[in-house]
Amino acid sequence: MKLYKYFTALCLSTIMVVPFCMAQTKTTSNDFSTSFSGRKWWKEAVIYQIYPRSFKDSDGDGVGDLKGIISKLDYIKSLGVDAVWLNPIYSSPNDDNGYDISDYRNIMKEFGTMEDFDAMLKGMHDRNIKLIMDLVVNHSSDEHEWFKQSRSSRSSPYRNYYHWWDAERGKPPYRYSLFDVNHDAWMYDSLTNAYYLHYFSRKQPDLNWENPKVRQEVFDIMRFWADKGIDGFRLDAFQFVAKDTTFPYFPKGFEKNFIQYYAMQGNLHGYLQEMNKEVLSKYDVMSVAEGAGNTFEDAHNLVDEDRHELNMAYAFEGVDIAKMEGYSLLHFKNVFSKWDSAFAEKGWLAIFLANHDQARLVSRFGNDSPAFREVSSKMLTTFILTMRGTSFYYNGDELGMANAGFEKIEDFRDVQTLNEYQYQKNTGGDLNKVMARIKFGSRDNSRTPFQWDNSANAGFTTSNPWIKVASNYKTINAAAQEKDTNSCLNYFRNLVKLRKEQLALVYGKYTLLDKGNPAVYAYTREWEGMKLLVLLNFTNKTARTKTGLNLASSTVLLDNYSNPSKNGVLKPFEAIIYEVH
Ligand code: GLC
Repeated sequence: MKLYKYFTALCLSTIMVVPFCMAQTKTTSNDFSTSFSGRKWWKEAVIYQIYPRSFKDSDGDGVGDLKGIISKLDYIKSLGVDAVWLNPIYSSPNDDNGYDISDYRNIMKEFGTMEDFDAMLKGMHDRNIKLIMDLVVNHSSDEHEWFKQSRSSRSSPYRNYYHWWDAERGKPPYRYSLFDVNHDAWMYDSLTNAYYLHYFSRKQPDLNWENPKVRQEVFDIMRFWADKGIDGFRLDAFQFVAKDTTFPYFPKGFEKNFIQYYAMQGNLHGYLQEMNKEVLSKYDVMSVAEGAGNTFEDAHNLVDEDRHELNMAYAFEGVDIAKMEGYSLLHFKNVFSKWDSAFAEKGWLAIFLANHDQARLVSRFGNDSPAFREVSSKMLTTFILTMRGTSFYYNGDELGMANAGFEKIEDFRDVQTLNEYQYQKNTGGDLNKVMARIKFGSRDNSRTPFQWDNSANAGFTTSNPWIKVASNYKTINAAAQEKDTNSCLNYFRNLVKLRKEQLALVYGKYTLLDKGNPAVYAYTREWEGMKLLVLLNFTNKTARTKTGLNLASSTVLLDNYSNPSKNGVLKPFEAIIYEVH
């Protein structure tokens, strides 16, 4: 995971989907028993990420909840997705919207009850949708019973569940905190005259994984949820779990280098192997780590089947590219091609360009102006669903939802955004620049309520939402897009369907074409005699590509315009998928 991931937290209406019936093409079967041994449901799945706080409020308190999700299960099913990754729903004081857990075996009051959870899981399984839960165990909440006990006395049996530094030893060696208002990861606690470690906010103390009791507690929690029948775990911030607990000084000037000094340290792989042996191998669950280490070797070591650790790596180098001032497509192509080739023979990756920690997909990588929002959003969706790896798709992106772009700091809710602003204020930063950065890059941009329809508060809630609804909800909403066959929503559905029909899009060999083209991303995916070509224009201008393939004789399977090009000249943000003959 790149550190600046947190720093940045700072359809033209004529567009038409080419109906599939027009494109007579060979499709692949979903029968796992008759196929090659490498086939896995979690490789073929399109995983839809739901940010529960902002998805749908059922009880009018302004906060999304589980009953709200239940009421939208038919919508989720209609997308064609196979699994849902749900951001944390456990009891939490919500310093970091549920990433600060005070009880791992309970549901956050605002979200509902365990009965609601059971009903939601059943509702998903009845519809053949799997559920992946967020496992947040690098840290807990400071309101978790373990931490309350731990801080109560130096001799507490829970003392060693966290990292403490007794104050008589002097100030501990500096550690960087991502969310702390002073960016200092050591928080002094007068109760026992000691500092505790928190890489994230002060209310997220880091657990001590060197303590075998902590590991057993985590494995028990995992068994609790796996026994309920969930289908997978996403391991939050897991790279930071293992630390050198002698806490050496880092070289001056490098103390903030998360990549080098914080991620993938010590016995991380040992902990994962233990987790695999104790829990993962005993259930039919998939596992995906947030982050993929510092090198390809790190990433491979996480997911190499022979090592028995995790299934899938979720690498940040690609998603970290987009910047306020624009990005180079050549760089983008290079990064994704490099990761693909590193995993071509062994291991498996997640493919994504957005999640709850990033501003909106179309605002970061596309163009959210009225003229290009729809078409560029569809183009980016095409990328996510045609690359090798498991597609992770963030809720709202199927509508082409764009950055809310709040102008006032009072409108923001995210702990990281607010503390960064305060930090800059305290240290004399240029607040205009800071606000511009936050407006573009804050995580809150992707956390505004899901835009269901054009009624008050976008149909998300009947009262005041916990965070403002983006002002464009009257034009960008699901109800309007349901009626429009050319909408982003229906384009997404068609693309999901195509990915399910064409295993070449999942497993097929990836080959980059027209490598030096700064405007067009062109690649083929080949699998068992099927050759698909994807052309993506990443610019708002007409662009030409030379692939050396015969486009005239190829069949267009999908296009985000009504009249797909057959001569390699692409309209602004045009995306075309061909079957090459
Ligand atoms: C992960 C989550 C992020 C959270 C952080 C601390 O990066 O994705 O939302 O704030 O961990 O748990």
